[in-house]
Amino acid sequence: MDKLLIEGGQCLTGEIAVSGAKNAALPILCAALLCAEPVTFTNVPQLKDVDTLLALLARMGVKIEREGSTVTLDAAGLTDPVAPYEMVKTMRASILVLGPLAARCGQASVSLPGGCAIGARPVDQHIKGLQAMGAAVDVEHGYVRVNASRLKGARLVTDMVTVTGTENLMMAACLADGETIIENAACEPEVVDLANCLTAMGAKISGAGSEMIRIEGVPRLHGARHRIMPDRIETGTYLCAAAVTGGQVRLIGTQASSLDAVIGKLTEAGCVIRCDPDSIHLSAPRRLSAVNLRTAPYPAFPTDMQAQFMALDCVANGAATIRETIFENRFMHAIELQRLGADIHIDGNTAMVRGVERLQGATVMATDLRASASLVIAGLVAEGATMIERIYHLDRGYECLDAKLAALGARVQRVK
Ligand code: EPZ
Repeated sequence: MDKLLIEGGQCLTGEIAVSGAKNAALPILCAALLCAEPVTFTNVPQLKDVDTLLALLARMGVKIEREGSTVTLDAAGLTDPVAPYEMVKTMRASILVLGPLAARCGQASVSLPGGCAIGARPVDQHIKGLQAMGAAVDVEHGYVRVNASRLKGARLVTDMVTVTGTENLMMAACLADGETIIENAACEPEVVDLANCLTAMGAKISGAGSEMIRIEGVPRLHGARHRIMPDRIETGTYLCAAAVTGGQVRLIGTQASSLDAVIGKLTEAGCVIRCDPDSIHLSAPRRLSAVNLRTAPYPAFPTDMQAQFMALDCVANGAATIRETIFENRFMHAIELQRLGADIHIDGNTAMVRGVERLQGATVMATDLRASASLVIAGLVAEGATMIERIYHLDRGYECLDAKLAALGARVQRVK
């Protein structure tokens, strides 16, 4: 298994390009299942999770052509609406095929994704919504089996804000008979990007980005071309990395509009940030001030940036509290950061962090995607060498992370 060796102490400077958003690409690739004509997506990030999903779609009979970050999918000849356990267990976002298959084929058999390091990750809201639209759904032997002659429009209220739940139900509703209203919908920018893509395919959607989304079902969708939005979490991760090293960077091909909460916290920590239409420039002080955080659904501070900011608080001036309100077990990185000398005390879903002058390099282990990013950020400022094991987690969600960091002056090396 690959490892990442980081020599701390380099100040990050320079310019890199941000890739397409993983969490927009995954639902959008699944949207191809909704129509029998070719769809082409550009700015698709080259990530392990995208590879996994494309392999799953190919197994179902989708024809796929991939040229760099451009992917064309043709789901005319869907043969096998099944997502088997051995493929779903490696990438839980595979659950996003459920809604499109139910709508397009009237049947689907998708393995339950199971939990992961950060929590149980149930999909009961996805199932409840499809049932409300008239689907018969059974959960047996670890699979969700859906049968529906034709889904009917319904008024859906999810018990909590769920991003992929909103996305699955919005995709299913595109081909349902009548109007569907999703209340308590997720407002994340990735939901809006999916809605824009579906609209280009002929769907009738309004309200995406707000808590109430209306979808007027249509008989079929048609082919289209759509460019995936920039990855706001990748953007935030590199801004954090530059900030903790006292650096000065410019990230291009990204949108500051989807990062207000993160940019606000980096400014509060002492960074000077300038936002242009498709780039963000950050310059950081020698030492940051610690910032308190509370994660919550968009537009509040994103849970996917919590681990990265914990690393920032570990070496900032002062103490801070971090509250994780979305997932029940998203502090795994704290244990590894403590191995680097961080002063963190966990109490339930709250972490108290007291900034230290210096972290010491050590060997640490990545447990999930964003925890790995947190360890990379800590390694960039720790004294000496930090070896991060199990970096396949990183490769799932960050395109060419070591090359991009090296381009900013980090001393980082992938070790086989
Ligand atoms: C999406 O996961 C993202 N993944 C996650 O990013 C992100 O952390 C999360 O949204 C929150 O923003 C993708 O978009 C592929 P949820 P998702 O459904 O949709 C509970 C990353 O690092 N819940 O919004 O799975 C759930 O347990 C990943 O890129 C139910 O109880 O998250 C959680 O506590 C990690 N029942 C909360 O809701 C359900 O049916 C929010 O989960 C669905 C969710």
